[in-house]
Amino acid sequence: MNYKAPRGTYDILPEDQSYWRYVIETTHRVCRLYGYEQIDVPIFEQTNLFKRSVGESTDIVEKEMYTFADRSDESMTLRPELTAGICRAYVERKLHGRPQPLKFFTIGPAFRYERPQAGRYRQFYQLDVEALGSQDPAIDIEIMQVAWQIYEEIGLGGLSFQVNSTGCPECRPRYLNLLKEWYESRISGLCQDCQRRYGQNLLRLLDCKNEACREISDRAPKITTALCGDCGNHFEELRSYLDILKRPYEVNHRLVRGLDYYTKTVFEVWASGIGAQNAVSGGGRYDGLVKVIGGPETPAIGFASGIERIILAMKQEGIIPPELANPKVFIAYIGTAAKSAAVLLVQELRSGGISVTALWDDRSLKSQMKQADRVGATYTVIIGNNEITSGKYILRRMGESAQIVLSPSEILPRLKDGDFS
Ligand code: HAM
Repeated sequence: MNYKAPRGTYDILPEDQSYWRYVIETTHRVCRLYGYEQIDVPIFEQTNLFKRSVGESTDIVEKEMYTFADRSDESMTLRPELTAGICRAYVERKLHGRPQPLKFFTIGPAFRYERPQAGRYRQFYQLDVEALGSQDPAIDIEIMQVAWQIYEEIGLGGLSFQVNSTGCPECRPRYLNLLKEWYESRISGLCQDCQRRYGQNLLRLLDCKNEACREISDRAPKITTALCGDCGNHFEELRSYLDILKRPYEVNHRLVRGLDYYTKTVFEVWASGIGAQNAVSGGGRYDGLVKVIGGPETPAIGFASGIERIILAMKQEGIIPPELANPKVFIAYIGTAAKSAAVLLVQELRSGGISVTALWDDRSLKSQMKQADRVGATYTVIIGNNEITSGKYILRRMGESAQIVLSPSEILPRLKDGDFS
């Protein structure tokens, strides 16, 4: 029997861990810099939460969710995104009673049954940043800046924003009527998916990648011309902040995003190193969502970014993350008595905070020294019969011929102060 990882999943092998660590640590650092607190929510939730929030007619809910009945026959779903769970926690834990706005970040896996390709998986990791409880466009720009600074600190090049407004319950129905009229006489020219969406999710017609559909949507009425005063002003103010900060951006009338909860601002960040169609992150306002799932009226905005996509861009751009630290010390031993002494010494060194490794399978000294080299240890301690007799072990700095001899109790303090003379 040959077992295989499920399609669209992958293993993160040790050699890739430095990339992951670097992205995650940078996210933590930047989020703290902006005053965002970590929150973690379950990996699965009641299916209805996602149906209500992401939207029944979205691709995610229609065909991408991993949904199952648990042993009590309740329908559960592996989260396809992280925003809904955070909003559920906000309502259930009465976080709206705390001083607003609340600023959160979280990092973890999400699941979508998509067609796997570079940068698109069925299990993927998102870093997700949300601000709940403020409708000020200055919060929109703050959220966008968090994304920007994370990518900038990681070293991604060619960063730019795509922005649009999706309006609000006041102006969007007017716009949808305009769109409906526009597409009515053109339905037969649309792809099958769009013909179906015409009756369900008109906005999504705008971001169809099909050539023929694009030609039609290029000429379609633009939402920015149909916004109400409030949404128009909000968008203007956001753009003024982008100008002040000199962030490159493009108003993209096709940007409607694949989740139903958005209102007003939507945005994506594009970076060189991944295809132009593959946003490194996406997000926007969702002023109605908390209410939809049973909480008080709460304006909110956030974004999420696929960690795999960030790493893909890093690799394309040749960005090397800092190496994870190698073990500081390798212990080599020859003989049974030396092995017992080595067992004791590694314990003492590790308790003292020094990272140590050894092979433990009684190989030749030569083979152990090769291993010490391979793991990149800075020092090797060598214990053989002579060392057991004399009670003094050899401490060697790798790559140098010089070595010193020390009693076991002298090794830890010497490694700590780094004095090798
Ligand atoms: P989304 O655009 O569906 O938005 O996903 C955000 C990001 O997750 C994408 O830009 C991409 O980097 C990554 N991503 C999505 N699907 C996959 C996949 N199959 N494989 C790899 N990476 C993927 C959301 O999820 C919203 N919850 C964002 C948000 C937060 N809006 C407001 N707050």
